[in-house]
Amino acid sequence: MRRKIIAGNWKMNKTPKEAAEFCKMMKDKVSSTQVDVVFCVPFVDLFPVLEQLKGTDIGVGAENMHFEDSGAYTGEISPLMLKEMGVTYVVLGHSERRQYFNETDEMVNKKVKKALDVGITPIMCCGETLEQREAGITIEWIRIQIKCGLLGLTGDEVEKVVIAYEPIWAIGTGRTATSEQAQEVCRAIRQVVGQVYGDAVAEKVRIQYGGSVSGKNAAELFAMEDIDGGLVGGASLKEEFQQIVHYQK
Ligand code: G3P
Repeated sequence: MRRKIIAGNWKMNKTPKEAAEFCKMMKDKVSSTQVDVVFCVPFVDLFPVLEQLKGTDIGVGAENMHFEDSGAYTGEISPLMLKEMGVTYVVLGHSERRQYFNETDEMVNKKVKKALDVGITPIMCCGETLEQREAGITIEWIRIQIKCGLLGLTGDEVEKVVIAYEPIWAIGTGRTATSEQAQEVCRAIRQVVGQVYGDAVAEKVRIQYGGSVSGKNAAELFAMEDIDGGLVGGASLKEEFQQIVHYQK
């Protein structure tokens, strides 16, 4: 039985002060013994968020990182920096990083490997455009993203990766994939993991859905067989996040 994981991705929102206030207000409301809860926040918010969430079981994640330990990479943040701060998750290969910052599957793969090496859980994102969905190549596209993103990892490593399926047309649009559409792709992701790394690994790997998840649709989405939680954008910035975390009630 896989434990569900519900992560907020704040994207480029909340100043450090706003972040601290929000966490103070939310920490008791989103504490859960039923699911893993994670706040993935901008780099400058990590310190106040870690401070506020100290002593809780809420995980803290970054939204990106470099794949080198250190070096001449102006403006970048290294895995070791995150690790030392106490960061335990990192979102990698989000479609916004791929679209606006030219991240490739190869870079995502290097980052996933590095995160695992330093002991940070990668939340590796994949997803198709509307054009790809309409052309009927969603599954093929996702299979390639998954195979490339996980290339060279051992089965033991793949088990630790959280995969987030985020159809790009559903991100921030209010247009959620139906639970059947989301399930179909999450099932295909589990199948490709099974084909490459074996069924035991596929059974363990956790697959989230992301794209306009809300307090209203979370229960239906998370009830699907291959959906092990969500990666939540807009709704994670608001009190509504507690309804998503406590979707069973
Ligand atoms: O990573 C979360 C995401 O891209 C979905 O955003 O605002 O549609 O929930 P949103």
